[in-house]
Amino acid sequence: MDSIAIYDTEEWRALERHYESARDLSLRQLLTGDSGKARVTNMHLEVGDLYFDYSRHLVTDETIDMLVRLAERAGLPGRISAMFSGAHINTTEDRPALHVALRMPDSESLIVDGVDVVRQVHEVLDKMGQLSDEIRSGSWLGYTGKPIRNIVNIGIGGSDLGPAMAYIALRDYAYPALEVRFVSNIDPIALWQAIHDLDPAETLFVVCSKTFTTLETLTNARKAREWLLEGLGATDEAVARHFIAVSTNEKEVARFGIDVSTMLGFWDWVGGRYSVDSAIGFSLMLAIGKEAFNDFLAGFRMVDEHFRTAPLNENIPAIQGMLNVWYNNFHGAQTHAVLPYGERLARFPAYLQQLTMESNGKSVRLDGTPVGLQTGEIFWGEPGTNGQHAFYQLLHQGTKLIPADIILFSEPARDLGDAHDALFANGLAQAAVLSLGKDASEVAAEGVAEAIVPHKVMPGNRPVTVIVANKLTPSVLGQLIAFYEHTVFVEGCIWGIDSFDQWGVELGKAMAARLTPLLAGDGGAQQERDNEVDAATACLIDLYRSQRGR
Ligand code: F6P
Repeated sequence: MDSIAIYDTEEWRALERHYESARDLSLRQLLTGDSGKARVTNMHLEVGDLYFDYSRHLVTDETIDMLVRLAERAGLPGRISAMFSGAHINTTEDRPALHVALRMPDSESLIVDGVDVVRQVHEVLDKMGQLSDEIRSGSWLGYTGKPIRNIVNIGIGGSDLGPAMAYIALRDYAYPALEVRFVSNIDPIALWQAIHDLDPAETLFVVCSKTFTTLETLTNARKAREWLLEGLGATDEAVARHFIAVSTNEKEVARFGIDVSTMLGFWDWVGGRYSVDSAIGFSLMLAIGKEAFNDFLAGFRMVDEHFRTAPLNENIPAIQGMLNVWYNNFHGAQTHAVLPYGERLARFPAYLQQLTMESNGKSVRLDGTPVGLQTGEIFWGEPGTNGQHAFYQLLHQGTKLIPADIILFSEPARDLGDAHDALFANGLAQAAVLSLGKDASEVAAEGVAEAIVPHKVMPGNRPVTVIVANKLTPSVLGQLIAFYEHTVFVEGCIWGIDSFDQWGVELGKAMAARLTPLLAGDGGAQQERDNEVDAATACLIDLYRSQRGR
């Protein structure tokens, strides 16, 4: 990629011109008759277990060709190779973004900065497998000699969202004798809820933190340790049997007092939001077992291989990423809805929010100059059909264009007769209605009073990606995650930003650390405090202190 801004290229300008005619495309027309059938044949791809239908998008073959040329101009093929080879593509932190190495098979090797990272990955996977077998079989004993029955994962952001989402998604594969819970928020109720009814003698805390300095996680871990030691009537020597740390920071783990011999490590080249398939997924492995965890990794690998090798116009993460750029930058869409028709994916939109928004919510290019265009879409969503009875009204008849992903599974997680047919039919119906709509003449033909007709018109032309898999298995979940990871990468590459740093979260953390002591104790001298904070914050500190009787 040359250093020219992408919007200054001929490829971008060509798309701007193309948009002037493409904005009037009608999905209804495009999807009708023989040409509609040909379009669907042409605009679907199958990769691994994923069937990817992008026929319901406001594009023609020409649009896709032009988007491919744009991606090429942005240097996407070279950036993909750079990522897979371990180049330092996370430039602001001067490190690789090498989550793809987390799922490379042990028959491969990848030397990065003089080290075989695949060997390192498999050493940790083996250690995870061994510990997981011990804990699941009951041979790992707690301090009082009881086997572990409860796992409490403590972490936040990428150290929580991935394993928590995946645990819910794969609950049907989980070992029923282990209760697995997740705590992320520093709100004391979160930890209380997770542990108040557990027996400390049978409880293992998995403390996940890449840095091992994150306030929420360390606070919760400290409180958990107090609860444990008080409950067991024990001193610090009990901690080793009830705490396992997952981190890149051995020094801080030791300082916290967790046994480093059982620590599960990973590396600075794994971003938090890309870490569910690293040791951060240990609680998931405890739940589903090491074999199913391997299937999960194999799913990622299938999509990695496809992303690395398929031409851009047959490459599902590339196409989805390019379509997202098309809507974000040419149609002016601001948000993107993720609508899984599967209750087990209840936390998938939340997981994707960190993956997409922490990655691509950036305003400067790699060289530090202003990006000069709209970047990261706002991701949101809920499982269908719940969303249908809440926010779909706005999707259908609102004034905003919101591209949506509808994710469907042919097989139910649990079969309750015809209920699953109804679920699947609803997903299909929504995809059709969003894209095709219903015009005034059709509404009037139903005998609707003239004055009401405009209220019942469904504009349609809402773009939809439909993704279908046979069943939500560990492998399919891995495939879906890898698909979205690479989609984010494609967008970031076109925009010319660093999708792997997250400097924007730091200032708030530092400020919270400064404010905490001002809320507590005597709050410091009034003058000192007023110098420290702005007027609005000072006023709210006073309010809090008075409501807490301080
Ligand atoms: O605050 C954002 C963040 O740094 C995320 O990127 C990360 O996933 C999360 O905090 C947790 O960080 P850690 O794993 O170091 O505790």
